[in-house]
Amino acid sequence: MRKKIVAGNWKMNLRLEEGLKLANDIIAFVKEHPLKSLKGKPEMILFTPSVHLSSVATAVGQTEGVSAGAQNCHNQPKGAYTGEISAEMIQSAGATNVLVGHSERRSYFGEKDELLAEKTKIALEYGLRPVFCCGEVLDERNEKKHFDVVRKQLETGLFWLSEKEFSKIVIAYEPVWAIGTGVTATPEQAQEMHAFIRQLIKEKYNSQTAENTTILYGGSCNAKNAAELFANEDVDGGLIGGASLKADEFCAIIKSF
Ligand code: 13P
Repeated sequence: MRKKIVAGNWKMNLRLEEGLKLANDIIAFVKEHPLKSLKGKPEMILFTPSVHLSSVATAVGQTEGVSAGAQNCHNQPKGAYTGEISAEMIQSAGATNVLVGHSERRSYFGEKDELLAEKTKIALEYGLRPVFCCGEVLDERNEKKHFDVVRKQLETGLFWLSEKEFSKIVIAYEPVWAIGTGVTATPEQAQEMHAFIRQLIKEKYNSQTAENTTILYGGSCNAKNAAELFANEDVDGGLIGGASLKADEFCAIIKSF
């Protein structure tokens, strides 16, 4: 059975002490409500700012079902790339996940799928689990190009991976028009796209790989709407922005399966 995951993307928010408090409050919740006792036995990932990563990964320690992740990594292993962080640094900080291709990286930093393919490759080389983000902007949806856009993102970014490599990937569908806007995709829109993505994986790899791939939804997902989104067959959890910054709300979302 594929993994259910609720991941928090803290983006560029929280001072270190605030981030540590948030992580510690979440860990305290998980100690009281072990994730394996919750419906769907979900996992949690905390995608922190890179300067918080080591502290949060240390705080998470061996807490079952919880892990830390970075929001980005460079496509090169090391070198003269001032201001960047490498997959190896992320791994050495004790994190096990990395976001690749978040829409904010695509739009503000011009990251293209060819580059994201390289980031995915290096993340896998260092044993990180890439959470590969895809999704269309509003104009593309209005012009009914959203399926083509997502197909192209996945084909270039991921579908060159071997089946074994691909089996380590998590996909996050984040329609850009739903990110930080308070406008959530309807459960039908989310399910339709997730089913489409799973079908693409089936065509590229096989049914088993498609069945085993975790596909998360992101975009104004919160404690109020998570249950109706997660109730869909192909929605395996969420990548949460704003609502991941409060421990109570984030922990309420994990109970939504
Ligand atoms: P919001 O939940 O704030 O819309 O952000 C979603 C997101 O971008 C998560 O990566």
